[in-house]
Amino acid sequence: MDKTEKFWDKAAKNYGTTEERFAHIHSKARDKTTEHLKSTDVVLDYGCGTGTKSCELANFVGKILAIDISGEMIELAEAEGSANAIENVCFEQTTIFDKALERDSFDVVMAFNMLHTVPNLQSVVKRIHEILKPGGRFISNTLFGREEVFLS
Ligand SMILES: C[S@@+](CC[C@H](N)C(=O)[O-])C[C@H]1O[C@@H](n2cnc3c(N)ncnc32)[C@H](O)[C@@H]1O
Repeated sequence: MDKTEKFWDKAAKNYGTTEERFAHIHSKARDKTTEHLKSTDVVLDYGCGTGTKSCELANFVGKILAIDISGEMIELAEAEGSANAIENVCFEQTTIFDKALERDSFDVVMAFNMLHTVPNLQSVVKRIHEILKPGGRFISNTLFGREEVFLS
């Protein structure tokens, strides 16, 4: 298990509390995101955490693959999906560099509150571009210095 996975596995247990504390940021991101989604979209939720956003946005799109490096986060996300009877979201413990994620395969890649945590941002952005279909959309909110920014 690598250091990042270990860190986020440990954070998973109390992540719900963090989500509650930053509920205003989460709801703003969710509401802005819906403006950019279509009912047929195939979506990747990168760094999905406990799956809250995937579950909240599931009704707005065709289907979502939600991935996270942390097995503990994915367990909680799967429980959230089952509790809400969400059928078009699939949760998987993996990274964006997984070869199973094919070139030109997603209409939308979302990355909420996580890009500031990746050490290799340039290669991550390159990879996001690679797996997006031509004309696909990348939606993210992340910390930028002391500011929170929303990109789409
Ligand atoms: C601050 S949480 C954000 C979770 C969720 N997107 C949200 O908005 O609530 C960051 C998440 O990114 C995941 N993560 C960090 N580095 C990752 C990587 N290299 N690949 C996949 N997931 C990663 C962590 O495990 C964690 O669940």
